Amino acid sequence: MKEQLEAIQAEALERIYQTEDMKELQDIKVAYLGKKGSLTGVLRGMGKLSKEERPAVGEIANRVREAITVSLDEKTEKLEQAELEQQLQAETIDVTLPGRPVKVGGSHLLTNIVEEIEDLFIGMGYEIREGPEVETDFYNFEALNLPKNHPARDMQDTFYITNELLMRTHTSPVQARTMREFKGEKPVKMICPGKVYRRDTDDATHSHQFTQIEGLYVDKNVRMSDLKGTLDAFAKKMFGEDREIRLRPSFFPFTEPSVEMDISCKVCNGEGCNVCKGTGWIEILGGGMVHPRVLEMGGYDPEEYSGFAFGMGPERIAMLKYGVNDIRQFYTNDIRFLKQYHHA
Ligand code: DAH
Repeated sequence: MKEQLEAIQAEALERIYQTEDMKELQDIKVAYLGKKGSLTGVLRGMGKLSKEERPAVGEIANRVREAITVSLDEKTEKLEQAELEQQLQAETIDVTLPGRPVKVGGSHLLTNIVEEIEDLFIGMGYEIREGPEVETDFYNFEALNLPKNHPARDMQDTFYITNELLMRTHTSPVQARTMREFKGEKPVKMICPGKVYRRDTDDATHSHQFTQIEGLYVDKNVRMSDLKGTLDAFAKKMFGEDREIRLRPSFFPFTEPSVEMDISCKVCNGEGCNVCKGTGWIEILGGGMVHPRVLEMGGYDPEEYSGFAFGMGPERIAMLKYGVNDIRQFYTNDIRFLKQYHHA
């Protein structure tokens, strides 16, 4: 029996030594020390031994059990340690690795220009207003003194949706909407930036969709000189204090008199060059004194109120300011072009 016990110990210790697997180690434990384990089986047979033999064999049996238990515990600890180390290895984070750069965008050149113009007019007491891009014939034309079949409608080739609905051709309808909303009861001082649409063939200077900023100031005693002073301040802030402006007579159905504003050419300082086509002046925007019919349709008594209005294209302004020579650059979203104008 003694040999049997020692054989069990030798075999058990060898198996424990060999295994590298926690589950197998558990199986080994059961195989020797479990209820049906081989050591347990031998111990159960001790009843058959003589009284004299029993203490000696019992002692050996205890030693064997102890040896197997200690060996199992040591191996368990060793395997657990190995497992932990492996896990730590696998989950190592190298804090010295350079980070992955996050790509940051920037606002579009056109957005920047529109915001710059907005800020400028907010500084002069104007509020920003908006209007729908799908507009009624009434607001886009009739309320602006352009009745049906008026020849000046041809100035703006229109995308019609139905007979009465269209894509707005300019931001001027927001003049009419704002006046009607204010019901002739208080002064109006607003600018309206937004998208407009025309049936033009796209080329370097035309786009079927572009941006406009409309301005309107209606109050008592608003005069032509107020328009000129406002536009002069705008031009100087936008293009530099050394710019001169001039107003030329023009025609728009919604203003009387109507003007176009030029600024002195920055490139040649008025001498004449190919940018200003030899004139020394560059056209920037249209405007004028609000036509009495337009005031009236907006709900303002032209005997009591007067006003000025103007409309400009931010693309054109950006093109002049930054030397962009093709309006399509604003819409084709070539990142190499746009990147140059990102604010830092
Ligand atoms: N709506 C005009 C256009 O699209 C621009 C314009 C001219 C607006 C004169 C005005 C104005 O308010 O007074 O060509």
